[in-house]
Amino acid sequence: MNVKQETPQRTGLPEDWFRRPAVARIDNFLTGGCDNYFPDRHLAGLLMDSAPWLPDMVKINQRHRSHAVTTLARDLGITQFMDLGCGLPSGWDKKRQCHDPALTYEAARSVHEDARVVYVDNDLLVCAHANFSMAEDLSTAAVQADVRKIDELLDAPGLRDFDRGQPIAVLVHDLLPWVSDKEAEAAVAALREWLPAGSAISITHACTDMAPEVMQELVDRYAEAGITYRPRSLEEIQAFLGPWSALPPGIVPTAQWRARHRNIHRMPSAAHSFAYAAVITEALSASP
Ligand SMILES: C[S@@+](CC[C@H](N)C(=O)[O-])C[C@H]1O[C@@H](n2cnc3c(N)ncnc32)[C@H](O)[C@@H]1O
Repeated sequence: MNVKQETPQRTGLPEDWFRRPAVARIDNFLTGGCDNYFPDRHLAGLLMDSAPWLPDMVKINQRHRSHAVTTLARDLGITQFMDLGCGLPSGWDKKRQCHDPALTYEAARSVHEDARVVYVDNDLLVCAHANFSMAEDLSTAAVQADVRKIDELLDAPGLRDFDRGQPIAVLVHDLLPWVSDKEAEAAVAALREWLPAGSAISITHACTDMAPEVMQELVDRYAEAGITYRPRSLEEIQAFLGPWSALPPGIVPTAQWRARHRNIHRMPSAAHSFAYAAVITEALSASP
């Protein structure tokens, strides 16, 4: 029996599932996880040849998640969260008996114990993990949907649990570099339109400004593996924010975003962000 050919049919997974690297599994490998296959580890190795700091970059981005969620929940009073392109869950810290860094629902619940969270990703392994880890929790849901089809995504039944009369925070962390300029712009514009008053969008985005040549090597290596990667300049990222404005401190390297208020242990060197972070909200019109 040819195991390699039989496996996808036996599992019901797509034909090329074990042969093509996937972004979520690469991040999982880079942060010490075990939900990855040989093609993911192989590409991660090539990427690290160009950018030895890549695991730090991914860790900084993941640690920013709990910081941003806690801030949105505490400072803006938001109780509903959508984690768009949520990725695989971070590892379990046996000593502290929690995920490290905290998952979106853990960070949100640390402030509002009845916080509602919807995870969205187009990778079925990611959605399976999200469903598995939250199976006993009725205030969370996982939706398999593609941000490139944003109207379909926003119409998904899993999103109907949100109370659209109340603010919602959407995390768009390290998602836009995996779609085209047009798709990214359309997605953020549709979110701005769909979100109720008082909502916020938290964005992180890989940037070409800090290490342009190395970033180009990463783009090339991903392209050789069939993955389109688009880190962007600060100006290009800023353009996605549209008419909404960034809360202080504006759009800054991820590790510097409200760094003094961060309660995160074991943060890699801030110089390894290689990405920008911002939380944007609808600008309030001046009172008459
Ligand atoms: C680099 S990971 C980031 C994960 C997480 N947001 C974080 O910041 O750690 C990008 C995630 O976006 C998902 N993704 C990529 N393209 C997508 C698309 N078109 N629609 C929805 N999810 C997508 C991937 O499956 C992956 O889980």
